[in-house]
Amino acid sequence: MTQPPVVAPRYTKQTVTHKTAWATEKLFSLTVTRPPGFKFVPGQFARLGLALDPAAPETPNEWRAYSMVSAPNENELEFYSVVVPDGKFSPPLARLRVGDALWVNNTVFGFLTLDSFVDGEDLWLLATGTGLSAYLSMLRDPATFKRFKRIVLVHGVRHAFELAYRDELLALMQQHAGQLTYLPITTQEPLTQQLSPSLRATSLAPARLTNLLSSGELEQRAGLSLDPNQARVMLCGNPAMVTDMRSLLSERGFAAGRRGVAGNLAVENYW
Ligand SMILES: Cc1cc2nc3c(=O)[nH]c(=O)nc-3n(C[C@H](O)[C@H](O)[C@H](O)COP(=O)(O)OP(=O)(O)OC[C@H]3O[C@@H](n4cnc5c(N)ncnc54)[C@H](O)[C@@H]3O)c2cc1C
Ligand SMILES: NC(=O)c1ccc[n+]([C@@H]2O[C@H](COP(=O)([O-])OP(=O)(O)OC[C@H]3O[C@@H](n4cnc5c(N)ncnc54)[C@H](OP(=O)(O)O)[C@@H]3O)[C@@H](O)[C@H]2O)c1
Repeated sequence: MTQPPVVAPRYTKQTVTHKTAWATEKLFSLTVTRPPGFKFVPGQFARLGLALDPAAPETPNEWRAYSMVSAPNENELEFYSVVVPDGKFSPPLARLRVGDALWVNNTVFGFLTLDSFVDGEDLWLLATGTGLSAYLSMLRDPATFKRFKRIVLVHGVRHAFELAYRDELLALMQQHAGQLTYLPITTQEPLTQQLSPSLRATSLAPARLTNLLSSGELEQRAGLSLDPNQARVMLCGNPAMVTDMRSLLSERGFAAGRRGVAGNLAVENYW
């Protein structure tokens, strides 16, 4: 009798090697072993799997997209996550401990990558919440700093304690002084100058990214004008923010690339 062909699974079982709990229990990062041959470009995402059926502990049955935080040359993979109250995936993901299993799909996905842009001098990376993940991978990759003259990273959150990775980002800003500007923004409370040393005391008021763009204060805080000929903009995170920003930016000459036409805008929605 002929045996049916053995089909290799489309995923591998990896192991959690490190866990970071941020200032709020709502936010955490996981580092896991990297599957052999797993290649990606900063800005891409993996599909992560959990085996949530106790009757089948070796069979992942729930999958979600997660952007890689780690740079392509790191030995392990890092992910940054929020715990969505009542979510099916993120609460059990948050309960994983070092040594636990996490499944990783073999294929990487996504077009929020720097090769969406063929030219441009200034890179604007605009995120809300965990949308920061995709940009961390870009900022950990030295190639990004060779490619763009100036880089502005804006991270919008509700409260200052949700500004995860701020120490790493402040250190990167020092390391790339004059090239990288890290602009945290908070919507539900004012910022402090300690968190945002490049800002004047008059620029610490709470504000949404959309309002900062409309009023011109975003450019003022960044010390750079958003010129559609030079600026290449990425939007990542909350879909309402992405829609609203996209519409404001389109009035200023920003559009995603289409077949044969290079764009100056790239976007990714997280839900
Ligand atoms: C391309 C892509 C990349 C992603 N990368 C990340 C990542 O790096 N980190 C991450 O935490 N999530 C990321 N997500 C979201 C992630 O896939 C899950 O949706 C999230 O972990 C919640 O899963 P859940 O089953 O608990 O809730 P779901 O049932 O998946 O979502 C329930 C609701 O929670 C809210 N929600 C979902 N994700 C988020 C979020 N990230 N921030 C705030 N509110 C959210 C939305 O209102 C959503 O309708 C990404 C999604 C996409 C499409
Ligand atoms: N953190 C909380 O206090 C809280 C409260 C209720 C529910 N939740 C739930 O917790 C999960 C994660 O929340 P999160 O705070 O990490 O992510 P989030 O809901 O995406 O909010 C992140 C940031 O995006 C801003 N934002 C939202 N819509 C916008 C728009 N259209 N234009 C510009 N900015 C916009 C928010 O400002 P605003 O503050 O102005 O909205 C906030 O600063 C979600 O499931 C959320 O529903 C959180």
